[in-house]
Amino acid sequence: MCGIVGYIGTKKAVPVLIKGLLSLEYRGYDSAGICVLNNNVLDVVKDKGRVKNLEENPELSNLIGNIGIAHTRWATHGIPSKENSHPHLDNSGKFAVVHNGIIENYTELRSMLEKNGYTFLSQTDTEVIPNLISYYYESKKDVLKAVSLAVTDLKGSYAIEVISPYLKDSIIVARKDSPLVIGIGENENYIASDIPAVLNYTNKFYFLEDNEISVIKKGKISFFDSSLNPIAKDIKDIKWDATSSEKGIFEDYMLKEIYEQPQVIMETIGSRLKPNEKCYFDDLDIDLKNINKIYVVACGTAMHAGLATKYTFEHFCKIPVEVDMASEFRYRNPLIDKNTLCIFISQSGETADTIAALKLAKNAGCKTLAVVNVIGSSITRIADYTIYTHAGPEIAVASTKAYTCQVVLLNILAVYFAEVLGYESKELEDFKMEILELPAKLKLILDDTKNIQDFAKEVYTKQDLYFIGRNTDYAVSMEGSLKLKEISYIHSEAYAAGELKHGPIALIENGVTVIGVATNPNLVEKTMSNLEEVITRGANVMVITNQVIPDIKASCIIQIPKCTPMLSPILSVIPLQLFAYYIAKNKNLDVDKPRNLAKSVTVE
Ligand code: M6R
Repeated sequence: MCGIVGYIGTKKAVPVLIKGLLSLEYRGYDSAGICVLNNNVLDVVKDKGRVKNLEENPELSNLIGNIGIAHTRWATHGIPSKENSHPHLDNSGKFAVVHNGIIENYTELRSMLEKNGYTFLSQTDTEVIPNLISYYYESKKDVLKAVSLAVTDLKGSYAIEVISPYLKDSIIVARKDSPLVIGIGENENYIASDIPAVLNYTNKFYFLEDNEISVIKKGKISFFDSSLNPIAKDIKDIKWDATSSEKGIFEDYMLKEIYEQPQVIMETIGSRLKPNEKCYFDDLDIDLKNINKIYVVACGTAMHAGLATKYTFEHFCKIPVEVDMASEFRYRNPLIDKNTLCIFISQSGETADTIAALKLAKNAGCKTLAVVNVIGSSITRIADYTIYTHAGPEIAVASTKAYTCQVVLLNILAVYFAEVLGYESKELEDFKMEILELPAKLKLILDDTKNIQDFAKEVYTKQDLYFIGRNTDYAVSMEGSLKLKEISYIHSEAYAAGELKHGPIALIENGVTVIGVATNPNLVEKTMSNLEEVITRGANVMVITNQVIPDIKASCIIQIPKCTPMLSPILSVIPLQLFAYYIAKNKNLDVDKPRNLAKSVTVE
């Protein structure tokens, strides 16, 4: 969950690296560092704190040179401190390494190295890597061989960059279970853990696969397998526009991404769904007739997208759907086989638990389909089929536009499955039309946010909040509650409204805030009765609805456009995202980089 950047070329490395790190801070922000190779010397500047601290460090001006590696850290082993910051050097000061991932056997490797006279300055797992490279270099006198032997000893996950005076004109990179891309320039090349870090310079990328090593020079990039046999790779053209990873007129990425939703939903619908035509997905030839169960597996917000769309698959495709957290699924021997379709949802395509769950499903013989935002990411390379959301780069840690795109795309997928299975109906046609109307409806909600802002101001000092709803309104409540927790640090929980009386209502007393989502015409009366019950007990209530509701004593009622309950999460989540956002702003918090969290969770 750290961010990595690298540069080799004709420009000064430091400004490129700093710019890259700034755009990668969503991956970790408790320390940052840079190492530049200049006149055969490795110069390092690093410290705890944000990239801004590093940028303002006067020592940085001493780092001249056109080859460099950089890192922004999300601490796993060892507290945020200067010693624990990357890059780490070996004892001889000849190998500098930045690392993303976790080395699980670092204690064994460390004692082996200590027995061989190596000493350690940090508490990190990473520091074994430069020393291990140095250890092998002693006998092999070849950096590429030394790196390849060192990574063979590593257990766990890693994406590493290595520079050394012995290499002079190259950077060596290697990966396993942690993302790494190489951006191709003219007489210069870039390395990054995520595409947006170098999108300003290039749209052409190589994606390094697990157990591959690459030697990157300014005019040449070579790839090798784990036995150092040369391999060929295809260049991928990334259509994302560099400005899409900048804040533009917005104060924060999160707000920008919330407001981008009408546009990115339109792009996600693309040409897959058109009025009076069958849905279309390129290369999706799953034999659905033999599928008797769908599992949707993901983490966090992506898992909530699965919960929000389970209803559509069951309703239109008549296939039972189970939604599970990847971290649970991977350890519970799920009952899956060749007749199960497993759908994995992920914005980053790099989430460690989701990848492990996907591998398990593949080994069990299931058909696997990935719904991913980041092109070429690990999950897309493992799954049998991939369909992409077109949310563009999502930078804020709290996922917003990726969620709505996932929900839209999964709904379209359900329509496609229903059509393939022959379940066409007037209801299905109307549903397709409703999907096409979503961007315009989203705009209406985003045009008028005053009531949400006012209510956020009223309750931002509270310690606890509850979200309630039924069916898809419950699914979206879970997402609203997660959004609030992660960026405002307020404790909140989501309950199926009908469950309140089975326990949680005991928590309701004067002044407790409850958010009710009530968009299902068949269930609105029931949810409203539940809200009456909490109001009677003193709760301060906000209701999000698109129905005519009884006159209740709610502090705030947010009316959103009408739509079928199966699509309502796409609309009702907007006030919930904005509510979380404005609460965090009222508390003066950094909404884009909430504490303890990183954008892609590439470690278990
Ligand atoms: O990249 P992924 O979609 O696989 O990430 C899954 C979760 O880590 C992610 O959705 C997380 O819950 C977000 N911070 C929520 O806003």
